[in-house]
Amino acid sequence: MKKPARVSRMDIIAGARPNFMKIASIIRAMKSAESAGSTLRYRLVHTGQHYDARMSGDFFAQLNIPEPDVNLEVGSGTQAEQTSAIMVRYEKLLAEQPSDLCVVVGDVNSTMACSITAKKNGLKVAHVEAGLRSGDWTMPEEINRVVTDSITDLFFTTSEVANQHLCRSGVSNDRIFFVGNTMIDTLNANMGRIKPPAFWGDLGLEPRNYFIVTLHRPSNVDELSQLLETLAAIAEGARGQPVVFPVHPRTAKTLLEARTLPGNVRIVEPQPYLEFIFLAKNAKAVVTDSGGITEETTVMGVPCMTLRTSTERPETVTVGTNELIGTDAAALKPAFDRLFDNGWKKGAIPDKWDGKAGERIVAVLQEVLGQSEA
Ligand code: UD1
Repeated sequence: MKKPARVSRMDIIAGARPNFMKIASIIRAMKSAESAGSTLRYRLVHTGQHYDARMSGDFFAQLNIPEPDVNLEVGSGTQAEQTSAIMVRYEKLLAEQPSDLCVVVGDVNSTMACSITAKKNGLKVAHVEAGLRSGDWTMPEEINRVVTDSITDLFFTTSEVANQHLCRSGVSNDRIFFVGNTMIDTLNANMGRIKPPAFWGDLGLEPRNYFIVTLHRPSNVDELSQLLETLAAIAEGARGQPVVFPVHPRTAKTLLEARTLPGNVRIVEPQPYLEFIFLAKNAKAVVTDSGGITEETTVMGVPCMTLRTSTERPETVTVGTNELIGTDAAALKPAFDRLFDNGWKKGAIPDKWDGKAGERIVAVLQEVLGQSEA
């Protein structure tokens, strides 16, 4: 006789912009598992770390992510304020409506805060994008990664390098699942839907005649003089071609103080997903300090200059189209020269970045939560 399948409860946590593409893939895979008879259910918890339409709502709408079941509405704050507010509110939720397993993704404050709270309340913790390490302890994201991985039960990884980091820190192989990259699942799934933003024609943009810039790391954007120096170097490197700069709210605060900007720099609002991917795919190159964008440009084969000295995603450099330029604006000129001389590497797609990570994750979760009806 078949055992009756136990309905297990699972939380999926999303907090900030780069989380939304990752959970979209997991939710899609959950839905198809459900249609195939799985009894695994999830509750979607939005912490409210990112809260305005441009940083959050637009992504839910475009990526067909259902409305969150719960919104903890923590909003902005210092690192400790934001982290503690998420912990207090998530703990209260778990006390009122318990869960069995907590899935966290990426490396934002919501990831760390919910993993700690879940673990202390007896839930299993699953970390998607586990094992990434930049080695740069000035990044709050690095602390979030290491703390989260120190209490994770199930590690879902995007690369062999991540597997090795986890093994070296004493994690046994049977808890590591090399599943691929959920962000790339979402990229592949939406490639046919990408579209130009309304300003495409107004700015005279055409494929490969413009650059995209995104900057939000405190070390790059909190000081106006440094930000202006970086923008001047990018504008000069671009040789008069438009430099489209969708400005993160943190960066916008600094830029408010700027009196002038180089003439070819076009400031625009943070873009919705489908428009941003369209812009990145057609750009001559992308200049960024984001981690996720280096993965997306690698898969799309677009040259990427990263304004950081380290990366937690080394395969974007060793396999893909990404190069670490550093944070010194003077390093931009030779990089642009190489690009214009057609000297940029072509790159390839890293192993298992094939659009199936979400399915692999859900298959493991079903197994672990005893959903197989055998
Ligand atoms: C966070 C993540 C980072 C991720 C980035 C992508 C952490 C530690 N960092 O950084 O890993 O790459 O998101 O965006 O979790 N703000 C708004 N509207 C919003 C959200 C934020 O105006 O919807 C403002 C806030 O007031 C705050 C600033 O943007 O001053 C920064 O937001 P915050 O959540 O602190 O972190 P991010 O810099 O966005």
